[in-house]
Amino acid sequence: MNRKIGLADIVKGEAGLSRAVELLAAGEAVALPTETVYGLAADATNGKAVAKIFEAKGRPRFNPLIVHVADMKMAADIAIFDSLSRKLAAAFWPGPLTIVLPLRIGHKIHPLVSAGLDTVGLRMPDGLAHEVIGRLDRPLAAPSANSSGRISATTAVAVEADLGGKIPLILDGGPTSVGVESTIVKIEDGMVRLLRPGGVSVEDIEAVVNTPLLRGASEKIEAPGMLASHYAPSAAVRLDATALMPGEALLAFGSFAISGSPLATRNLSPSGDLREAAANLFSHLAELDASGASTIAVTPIPRHGLGEAINDRLARAAAPRDNPAAAK
Ligand code: TXA
Ligand code: MG
Repeated sequence: MNRKIGLADIVKGEAGLSRAVELLAAGEAVALPTETVYGLAADATNGKAVAKIFEAKGRPRFNPLIVHVADMKMAADIAIFDSLSRKLAAAFWPGPLTIVLPLRIGHKIHPLVSAGLDTVGLRMPDGLAHEVIGRLDRPLAAPSANSSGRISATTAVAVEADLGGKIPLILDGGPTSVGVESTIVKIEDGMVRLLRPGGVSVEDIEAVVNTPLLRGASEKIEAPGMLASHYAPSAAVRLDATALMPGEALLAFGSFAISGSPLATRNLSPSGDLREAAANLFSHLAELDASGASTIAVTPIPRHGLGEAINDRLARAAAPRDNPAAAK
């Protein structure tokens, strides 16, 4: 079933898949689902195509994009893997882990993608995105499919609401299963540094590499939405709420001692499951935002496992909005 709203076609199934591949081969930017969030994808070797991503997102250009690959051959043509990064790829790909690696001499990635750095963030996604890259047989640059500074989209409808007027096609694969962006790590002299918590927990990575991850930005390129205010809904966000104030919508987790908001209430996971909470995070924030509440109050959320990524995104949503990159 296809439907057309605004400019973007929302397409599903085999017909959708082949249209997406056709448009990408022709140098267009297309929204498609990964297991984490929807991505706004373009051929990573085609500068004009990649420029369309920046244009649609209104993204500050100094932010490098993640490159998505279908297999290890494609990955190894782009970047230099050491034994640690091979181990991580073997353990978590396809899946929600991005590994920042040195670019290989002779690689075909357009400099706009790496923002002029000599490193590249690589990941092998699961699901429909994987299928698209395999058929296209070219790597895809894809940031999350949302305007710069706004909440990431976990459904085709959310992409349409934000970017529908700016892109030709949204491939609809249903709600994404993980719900938060990939974890980003960088390999540094045989150590692994966490640049952004995400869909693979730190505990799971540490179990594979057998050593604690380094923390904190190592150099100037601040990873992900390292911009302080990021992932921002229109409403203000108040964290660790233990009581509700007038005009507030409520975002709860598990069984909480506050009764619901008269405006709108969502529970990320009534049973207290952090995976379920991650999958619900962005759609619940968007729904509470649509209620017209001036502020979204969020009850405390545990910090272990995927709780680290959830708290990271919420802290950015709650940060003061004085950063020009987020003021849209
Ligand atoms: O789950 C995800 O990672 C989603 C889906 C679509 O794959 N993508 C995503 O992309 O979240 P984006 O562009 O919204 O966030 C990617 C972050 C950027 O903030 C960027 O700073 C960081 O990755 N990054 C990319 N390349 C890097 C590099 N060479 N060094 C350090 N950070 C890098
Ligand atoms: Mg993003």
